[in-house]
Amino acid sequence: MIDTRRQDDASGDRRSDQPGGRGGKSVYLETFGCQMNELDSELVRGQLTALGYRFIDEPGDADVILYNTCSVREQAENKVLSRVGRVGIEKKDGSAVVLGVIGCMAEREGASMMTRYPQIDLMCGPGELDRLPMLLDNAMKTDAVEHADRIALQGNRTRRTSTLAAAEDDLEMLDLSRAFDPDRAAAGGRSAYVRITRGCNKFCTYCVVPHTRGAEVHRPPDHIVDECRRLADQGVIEITLLGQTVNHYIYTHGTSLTVDGREMPQVGPGLKAFRETNAAAGQRVTTFADLLHRIHEEVPAIERLRFVTSYPRDFTDDALAVMAASPRICNYLHVPAQSGSNRMLKAMNRGYTVEEYLEFIDRARAALDDVSIAGDIIVGFPGETEEDFEATKELIRRVRFKNNFIFKYSPRPGTVAINRFDDDVPFEVKRRRNNELLELQAEISAEVHREYVGRTVDVFVEQVSRRSQARQGNVELRWQQPQVQMTGRTAGDLITAFDLPAGFSPDEMIGRIVPITVTSSGPLLLTGHPAESPVPQ
Ligand code: 5AD
Ligand code: SF4
Repeated sequence: MIDTRRQDDASGDRRSDQPGGRGGKSVYLETFGCQMNELDSELVRGQLTALGYRFIDEPGDADVILYNTCSVREQAENKVLSRVGRVGIEKKDGSAVVLGVIGCMAEREGASMMTRYPQIDLMCGPGELDRLPMLLDNAMKTDAVEHADRIALQGNRTRRTSTLAAAEDDLEMLDLSRAFDPDRAAAGGRSAYVRITRGCNKFCTYCVVPHTRGAEVHRPPDHIVDECRRLADQGVIEITLLGQTVNHYIYTHGTSLTVDGREMPQVGPGLKAFRETNAAAGQRVTTFADLLHRIHEEVPAIERLRFVTSYPRDFTDDALAVMAASPRICNYLHVPAQSGSNRMLKAMNRGYTVEEYLEFIDRARAALDDVSIAGDIIVGFPGETEEDFEATKELIRRVRFKNNFIFKYSPRPGTVAINRFDDDVPFEVKRRRNNELLELQAEISAEVHREYVGRTVDVFVEQVSRRSQARQGNVELRWQQPQVQMTGRTAGDLITAFDLPAGFSPDEMIGRIVPITVTSSGPLLLTGHPAESPVPQ
């Protein structure tokens, strides 16, 4: 198959005056993994669009294909490898597409992946994304056949480098220069992510994140509040703050300044120092609680403020009190337990016991009305016995999570667990435990949902429901059909479906907060109807 997508460059001259090239090179960007990656992709898109690149929805016509990758589980990496394989075949058949692998796989694998997959033209870890335009420009100018200048940029592999990167504050510029694109953003451009912390200092034994995203670095609170304000000015009403251990956010003022006195991101104080820094005399500190309070008070146009992912320890009463006193902060916590067995939690180096986890849940439930709690669980961690597994079931029953993401343990290169423990739980056992937990969680989710029947909840409308989308192929005509179903989320993140009111198009409803009276429920969602006729906007 001869690929025609780069015919305009058939002469081999890919030089151009601007990085985007004549008429703007087209880029297909696919994102794998977590919300952090979704935000990184948005920043990459903004950065490259400003330089003249055009983003397209299908890879077939692209001059550049970028995969923003995830390394958390092997399965996520395998998906990317199969895409990379396919592009390799196309390139053998004559395609001149430039292939870039960015994100966590680029950080973890670096140059070795380029050796194994010569079809890759560039790689760029999450800590180096500010330099992606330079890399891409370079790749576009290089003859793709010779691969003369292929580069793999990694930054976070050594913790020292990432500390320096924080000081240089180039990455911060990427967040700060964010070019928000309402047409591409979620829920009609009214929902956005804002990063408050990069990296992680926790080193759970199974996890690659501290290796791929580097040391914990906290952004200056003024930068964060400004970003929220600018998003609100562009119509955003829902913001989700992002951090791997988001409640560990802390910023000590006056210690990390540029020569002209501006505040810079700063490396986190480490776990032990977390409380000491709080208490340190004479230093002005912005804690997680202070930051939530500032955003809530200073950017009231944000009607829903959420944050993920919480770490079960060090969640202060102050932060709970700010949540309780702030009507626009959602009573929602995503706080992964990972296991209900103290033996497993210790082997995972999670840093808390089941009792401490439960103590936090009890505090959160006491402080926050109707708080809904979601989590993550890993089954089949090395050495997990039936007894450990039963303890996890017990924890799930006791906490009554609204939902749990359940994962089969996947040994990851570079982690402590892969070196220290045999992956000794057979795949079949992992699968059975996974299915049993899915079943148990579905029962509990159904119970949690049932309690909402008869109540009226505020729903942030996100999209036409998947069921409706599948039923009706034609997007344009959907709104004319009375049975079109919309879905959105409550403040507690419960998915809620309702029929599109007569006379409204989906676009008129998406991005609004609508009161919905719940009439029925199931394990996955609430169903209802608008409590009052929506007002045209
Ligand atoms: N295997 C399985 N699940 C994992 N997670 C992280 N690392 C692994 C791994 N090696 C899960 C954890 C984490 C979520 C984002 O992914 O539950 O909270
Ligand atoms: Fe990974 Fe643990 Fe950090 Fe979460 S807290 S990102 S699971 S090391």
